[in-house]
Amino acid sequence: MVIDVITVFPKILEDPLNESIIKQARKRINLKINIVDLREFSEDKHRSVDDTPYGGGPGMILKAEPLFKALDSINNKPDKCRVIFPSPQGKQFTQTVAEELGEEEHLVFICGHYKAVDQRVIDHWVTDEISLGDFVVSGGEFAALVMIDAVVRMQPGVIGDLDSAKTDSFQNDLLDCAYYTRPEEFRGMKVPEILLSGHHEMIDKWRLEQKVQRTKERRPDLYKKYLKRIQKDKK
Ligand SMILES: C[S@@+](CC[C@H](N)C(=O)[O-])C[C@H]1O[C@@H](n2cnc3c(N)ncnc32)[C@H](O)[C@@H]1O
Repeated sequence: MVIDVITVFPKILEDPLNESIIKQARKRINLKINIVDLREFSEDKHRSVDDTPYGGGPGMILKAEPLFKALDSINNKPDKCRVIFPSPQGKQFTQTVAEELGEEEHLVFICGHYKAVDQRVIDHWVTDEISLGDFVVSGGEFAALVMIDAVVRMQPGVIGDLDSAKTDSFQNDLLDCAYYTRPEEFRGMKVPEILLSGHHEMIDKWRLEQKVQRTKERRPDLYKKYLKRIQKDKK
């Protein structure tokens, strides 16, 4: 898998993409992440990549020219590549979207900044406009980092124990359950008896009940999806 990230602020990405799970992935699987500095594609002597909006109004707009040049330079097989524009106006990023993107060989992220990106870039290049949620952050770098981590951690060979990731929230339309570790009692708070019983079947049953209960209480929308799915599976 190759991931290219186009940005005006490479430093926001450098450390996070070289730590923890992503660092491991770069060593363990054939993952290449390239941080593409948009300013390298500016022909302007000040290396500027933004300008004021036509029609006036506040904020600066990332120009089409350097972005087209950056995309031309990395996107040699457009049909094999997903070009993602993280944007509050996009479809919601979910675990399902992360897993779907994880099946691709080549992802390109265009990190927006300032007020907007020239719409011609989005119209011409972008295959997926994806949002982290209903809030605005100052740059697409923050969103791209979250999305890249969620995609990469599910790749086989990245996490030592992929089974652990497969019991995380949103697998099977459920939230995850509560976990405890040593000691058995801490400041008067005890670990539930069942987890100390060594009875794996009962423990799995308890965990599933917890997951269902939490999902019902915290995410009624997800719970509905879960009920629908298990009813379908029973048929
Ligand atoms: C200050 S924001 C611009 C917001 C834009 N004027 C709008 O309201 O849609 C700068 C950049 O941050 C990124 N961004 C902001 N909020 C985001 C979100 N919720 N999800 C994904 N990306 C986001 C986008 O790349 C955006 O171009």
